[in-house]
Amino acid sequence: MSHTCRIELDGKSHEFPVVKGTENELAIDISTLRDRTGYITLDDGYGNTGSCKSAITYIDGDQGILRYRGIPIEQLAENSSFVETAQLVIWGKLPSPADRDRFSALLTQNQMMHESLRNHFHGFPPNAHPMAILSAMLNAMSCYEPEMMEIDDDQTLERAAARIISKVRTVAAASYKMSVGQPLIYPRTDYKYCENFLHMMFSIPYKDYEPTPEVARALNLFLILHADHEQNCSTSTVRMVASSQANVFASCAAGVCALWGPLHGGANVAVIEMLEFIRQSGMSVADYVSRVKAKDSKLRLMGFGHRVYKNFDPRSKILKMAADQMLAKMNINDPLLEIAGQLEQVALSDPYFIERKLYPNVDFYSGTILRAMGIPVSMFTVMFAMGRLPGWIANWKEIHDDPKSRIYRPRQVYVGNTIQGFVPKHLR
Ligand code: ACO
Repeated sequence: MSHTCRIELDGKSHEFPVVKGTENELAIDISTLRDRTGYITLDDGYGNTGSCKSAITYIDGDQGILRYRGIPIEQLAENSSFVETAQLVIWGKLPSPADRDRFSALLTQNQMMHESLRNHFHGFPPNAHPMAILSAMLNAMSCYEPEMMEIDDDQTLERAAARIISKVRTVAAASYKMSVGQPLIYPRTDYKYCENFLHMMFSIPYKDYEPTPEVARALNLFLILHADHEQNCSTSTVRMVASSQANVFASCAAGVCALWGPLHGGANVAVIEMLEFIRQSGMSVADYVSRVKAKDSKLRLMGFGHRVYKNFDPRSKILKMAADQMLAKMNINDPLLEIAGQLEQVALSDPYFIERKLYPNVDFYSGTILRAMGIPVSMFTVMFAMGRLPGWIANWKEIHDDPKSRIYRPRQVYVGNTIQGFVPKHLR
């Protein structure tokens, strides 16, 4: 096979190298295109653009493959914990027992919020969106860690990663407590990561919440499945910010903002809102699907479709199975789940969805599982953010460690006015 690509422009032929990934994906390296030809490429939405080389996550959207550092997601879901998976994603290998102990100790050391940081909470109105609180708090956190503004060694990065992963959990639970007018609950040192989050969410001063192993396992699974997903909107945002050499706190805060939107992390909220809308309207599922197909006011079936997975989303398979098991065990009878089941059946057998390769994505089932755990809808996207932190930190690290890294600066094709004269105020 040829390892170059020839492009004919204005009667001249130009050769460009072809880059091959470790899984044999092929890309035309056009980094010298503009210098050599004056042309740029145009790819709205970046569907055909590789923005970087990365060694973190591999996805094959046609075959439904997702691997972190080479390990299939199915194996991690079955055997690993969120904290161990976070270490794998960030540092590229499964941690040794000593690495695990050291990182766990760092998570425990960093689980409290600085008392001044707690004061920030009181400045937010009780109905503030938790994603707004989360991004603001991540930036605020950096004010208390001046030594982590510039990271020059592995130990400091490990401490920064532990701080972010541990404190975001505390901040997330605190934002929920504030929204329901309950006192903030301090973390416990005897709980593991997921149990501790559930304790801070659901304990009240006169009654401790005791997380069951099933719920803690389901939370671990949810977070593992969200730990990274290569160059999605929020991760690309983190890389974009990191490329200007911004610190890891600011870069992750930007990731939170990108994740907030309903076409990305907000989709799991939109799924529940859609199910609630169908229930309250009394409309049949078939009627709702017809409205979606008619593209009525840009309506979409939330939780369906994916930019990359065009066959099935491997995460949704795992989560669906876990959700089914958990709901059966907890004996939960939720009318929204009934509607979700019908929607899945209708859409999976409808030519509109089959032809466009629109299958349930991870958000379709994650809402279900979070609801069963008692997590309120307003916290769903925050849960996604908690899970995605390892991926953001790993991508930040990749940029930070690359001596050849350049600031990200795409170009554009200008389609605005050609030169105009300035019109004085009295003549407009
Ligand atoms: N419901 C109905 N129609 C859809 C849907 C949907 N969920 N998704 C795509 N389509 C249709 C489009 O209208 C379009 O139809 P057309 O060819 O007749 O014009 C066709 O499928 C292709 O759609 P695109 O917008 O080009 O697909 P794209 O890859 O850009 O979008 C996305 C992917 C954003 C995920 C889209 O499928 C969507 O909006 N889904 C619903 C939101 C959602 O669940 N987001 C979560 C994504 S996963 C994540 O962030 C973890």
